[in-house]
This record gives sequence, structure tokens and C-alpha cells, in this order.
Amino acid sequence: MPGAVIVGTQWGDEGKGRFTDYLAKDASLCVRYQGGHNAGHTLVVDGQVFKLQLVPSGVLYPWVLPVIGNGVVVDPHVLLAELDMLESKGIDSRRIRLSGNAHLIMPYHQELDRLNERYLGNAKLGTTKRGIGPAYADKAMRVGLRVQDLLDPKIFREKLDLVLREKNGVLTKVYNRLPVDADELAANYLALTDRLEPLIDDTVHLVHEALDEDQWVLFEGAQATFLDLDHGTYPFVTSSNPVAGTVCAGAGVGPRDIERIVGVVKAYTTRVGSGPFPAELFEGDPVSDALVDRGGEFGTNTGRRRRTGWLDLVMVKHSLRINTCTEIALTKLDVLSSFDELKVCVAYEGEDGTRYDHVPYHQSVLHKVRPVYETLPGWHVDIERAAVLEDLPSAAMEYVRFIEQFTGVPVTFVGVGPGREQTVVLPRAA
Ligand code: GDP
Ligand code: IMO
Ligand code: MG
Repeated sequence: MPGAVIVGTQWGDEGKGRFTDYLAKDASLCVRYQGGHNAGHTLVVDGQVFKLQLVPSGVLYPWVLPVIGNGVVVDPHVLLAELDMLESKGIDSRRIRLSGNAHLIMPYHQELDRLNERYLGNAKLGTTKRGIGPAYADKAMRVGLRVQDLLDPKIFREKLDLVLREKNGVLTKVYNRLPVDADELAANYLALTDRLEPLIDDTVHLVHEALDEDQWVLFEGAQATFLDLDHGTYPFVTSSNPVAGTVCAGAGVGPRDIERIVGVVKAYTTRVGSGPFPAELFEGDPVSDALVDRGGEFGTNTGRRRRTGWLDLVMVKHSLRINTCTEIALTKLDVLSSFDELKVCVAYEGEDGTRYDHVPYHQSVLHKVRPVYETLPGWHVDIERAAVLEDLPSAAMEYVRFIEQFTGVPVTFVGVGPGREQTVVLPRAA
């Protein structure tokens, strides 16, 4: 059995966690391959809410091995707190496997993330301030500390001393802050080794063992295509590559190991943080306020009100192409139930009147385009209890079919509420 990837097609918070949880019931491994605790994935099962940042969303099934791959950046304090939270809810979290090659987020990464943002002023990115950018920067600079370094206190200390020479110079001389105390920091991190050691593993080997045995391995994306360091709205992006192709580097598999790629599409658009958003509707606009109210559009992680707009199919189509999605999981269709009519962005218009049927590569153009909409009928009936295709009103199906026709990719699942059971499976699903 090959691998399957769940990937975000917009700006994050599409409901990746929720569909990972749904699909993981048939998997034996569920693997995170990039990002860190900037992610916030919410699962609702039998009314119980689980908010996950680092642990893969397959964790709720006892037969699924949750794996944190080498491509993830890990704050060990956050990981352990999340494991405690899961244990307190009766979930066995000791089976989690953590790649020894994953990089550690250190306190100075978080401090530098906060300072960078402050110094950018109005040009700030609106990061989650979790230290993600500085941790990936150190990985690329080859001065990062990795999970496996915790297993060798001498090496850990040597690497820490080396990197602190530069970090303390920047903190004290550039930002006028106090230096980091190496003794204190080393003691703080190494004190976690006893709890972490049993979790650390060769996760590449685990993934390949499962693939070799024809078991289904599910790779859970965090963030999304338009937050991708290469393919997103740079510089208003995260510091990893959330696209499906990153599974290869972030979990150690090859392209031929992946067969199914599920693009998660929210039925409208949201974004947290700064950056261009062609179809944005602003706070105070009745549609925006209704989407925020009905959709609960506040960040899982930071509590910020999410920016909102109608569904932008120009960006979704681009995303489905970059990720070579085999299917779409459409979420939050229920949130649209209250509208008389729905708009869908099908093209952009540039400042000079040029029509764009694709996402313009040049940011000077993208920042100024305006959405071109098509209008579709609303359905005005609650669909939260829909269980099968026939339960959906015809206007809701029309909305789904419009997405399929526009993108050329089949919708195989529709989310009609946050609960695991609030999933309508369309006939084409495997
Ligand atoms: P992720 O980061 O992509 O996993 O998404 P988040 O969990 O950050 O945000 C999605 C939010 O929408 C969560 O609060 C989910 O419980 C909720 N959600 C997911 N799918 C649906 C759906 O189909 N309908 C509704 N009403 N809520 C949903
Ligand atoms: P999930 O997995 C939505 C956004 C931040 C900011 C930008 C850079 O829940 O979909 P970072 O802290 O990564 O350096 O911030 O990326 N961002 C997300 N937005 N969902 C996420 O994750 C996000 N992770 C990062 O708001 O704009
Ligand atoms: Mg989220």
C-alpha cells in the first residue's frame, strides 16, 4: 500500500487535521513532515476537542503509529506538554516516534522571531512567534541542534557553545538584549532527555518498513501551499515547504512512494498574518463577519481573527497543480449555509484591466489584483446532519460540482461540521 499526503491548498487552517484524523483510521503510520508548533490542528471526536501542534492527527487511533519526521522543527517542551495533554485525555502518547534528525527549536529562536517581527515594524510578517523561521535558518546555516544531540550531552554542549557565540553577539550587540546563559539552557534541555529518549527513533526506517509491508502511510501537511517558502506569497510565508513534494525530504521517501494526494480546500478563504489576499473582505463587511462568526475563524494557535474572503478558485487551482492532488477534501461547506448567494473568485483583474486566469508570479501585480467573481445560488438549509450525498441540497451539490469542473479535480469528501462523523463521502472516494 502506498503513501498518501494531506496538504493545505490555501493559507492554512483548511481542516487538514480533521481530515487526517478521518483518513488515518485505515493507516498504520501518520507522519508530520514539515513545520513545527506554528501548526494548530483541531479534531473533534464525540464532542471531545483535541488541539494538536506537533503530534500527528492520527494519534487518536491506538493502531496508528504517530511519527514526527526529520523535516519538522521541534520545541521539546511543547512536545512533552502535548503528550501530557493527550495522556490526560486517555490517549497513549508513549508510542510516538520522534526523528533523531529533526531540528530543535531553542529559546533563542523564539526570542529572535519576536525581535525580527518587532524590528520589521509595519512590514512585519505576522508570524506565530514560535521560532520557526530562525530554527529553519539555523538548519540551513548548519548550526542547528538536532534531537539526537540530546542523547550526547558533551556534543550538545559543544554545539550550543558554538552557536551561542553568534546568537549572543546578535542578541546583545544588535538587539541590546541579555545574552543566553549556556549552562542554564543546556541544563534545561538535557533535563528532558529521560522522557524524550524512548521516543527517539530512525523514522525513515519505520516509514519504509510500513511501506514494504504494504501498509498505508499517511503524511500530514502543516501550513499550506500559499505559505510555502518557494511557492507562497513570499516573504509572507512560513520557513518550510508545506507542499506535498516535501514529504520526500521531510520524511525520507521517494516520489514513487506517494499515490494519493488529498488537497484540503476550505469552502471559502482565510488567512492569518500579513500578505496579499486578492479576494479579501474586511472586518465590518457582513459576509466577512458572518464567515468569522459561523466558521469560528480565530487562530487555534494565536487566537487572532482570521482574514476572510469568498473561495478563490484561481489560487486553489494553482495549488492543486503544484501538489498534483488526486482529490479534494472540501471543508466547512456548512458555514456557507446562511447566505442567499455565494461568490466564487474565478479570475483576477490587474490594475491596468488585464485579466489573469492564473496566479501572477510577480508580486507587484499580485498585490494589486482584484477578484472577478461568479455568483452561485445559496441553499439556506442546515447541512450539519448530512451523512450521504443525497442529504445535500442541490445548490450545495452545484457548488461542489462547480469546484470540480473549474479545477478538474474530483471532490471526494465534504466536511459539514467539525465532528469526525460530519463527513460526507462522495461516491468517487477510494
Ligand atoms: P488545520 O490547521 O488545517 O488542521 O485547520 P484548523 O484546525 O486550524 O482549523 C479548522 C477549524 O475548522 C477547526 O476549528 C475545525 O474544528 C473546524 N472544522 C474543520 N472542518 C470543518 C467543517 O467541515 N465544518 C465546520 N463548521 N468546522 C470545521
Ligand atoms: P496550520 O498547520 C495558518 C502563518 C503565520 C504567518 C506566517 C509565518 O494550522 O494550517 P511562522 O510562525 O510560520 O513563521 O509564520 O505563516 N502560519 C499559519 N497560518 N495556519 C498555520 O498552520 C500556520 N502556520 C504559520 O500566521 O502569517
Ligand atoms: Mg490550523
